[in-house]
Amino acid sequence: MKKISRRQFLYFSTSLSLSYPLSIVVASSEDNKLDENDLFPITIAVLNSAYRSEIIASDHYVGYSRKAVEERYPNIAYLFAAFAVSEKIHAENYKKILASLNAGPEEPEFEIFILDTKANLISASEGELKKIKETYPDFLTELKKESHDKAVINCMYSWKSHRQHKRKISEIQKYSKWFFGSVAKKIEGMKFDFHVCEICGSTIDEAPKTPCDICNYPILHYHKVIKPA
Ligand SMILES: [Fe+2]
Ligand SMILES: [Fe+2]
Repeated sequence: MKKISRRQFLYFSTSLSLSYPLSIVVASSEDNKLDENDLFPITIAVLNSAYRSEIIASDHYVGYSRKAVEERYPNIAYLFAAFAVSEKIHAENYKKILASLNAGPEEPEFEIFILDTKANLISASEGELKKIKETYPDFLTELKKESHDKAVINCMYSWKSHRQHKRKISEIQKYSKWFFGSVAKKIEGMKFDFHVCEICGSTIDEAPKTPCDICNYPILHYHKVIKPA
């Protein structure tokens, strides 16, 4: 197992080209100018947790993508790269809301675990499932106590986006346990054109034809993810 600190990881990952405009977002630091950090203590705590969770996920997906490139699975690398972009958008959304509340975020320190691509797919799938079933429902339950609109809306966006990720990984992982080689070969023969919505992180594997399924913003908010090489 390859285990590195986040600091080391950030140094190495500058070489990975995930050129994507992180302009974003629903939340703007211009909004909520009142000093609201006393009014939304639960929201702030949840957003800090959510920010941490999304940064960890994004950095892991960048690492998984690089590993898949090394192991010559370019399409799986592309999938992980798209997820990394999506997770980063979720994190940036939370960061902007926290800034509007004059509250952070706290930059997390954590370790990054990169295995081989087969194991990384399993980890990714487990991580997405946990977020769908536990993490995000818990976040939303807490957020609803204070009903900060942007926090709730962005949390819903992330939750729905994670459901997309899980569906996509499950398609790959379904038979991977026993037949990873043949599944991977089939995936590598497919044509993907990943696009991510800059508003909500919605991740689709072809050019968009309709407004975003998750946030309903127009097609122009989708951006193509560059295939890692
Ligand atoms: Fe996410
Ligand atoms: Fe969207």
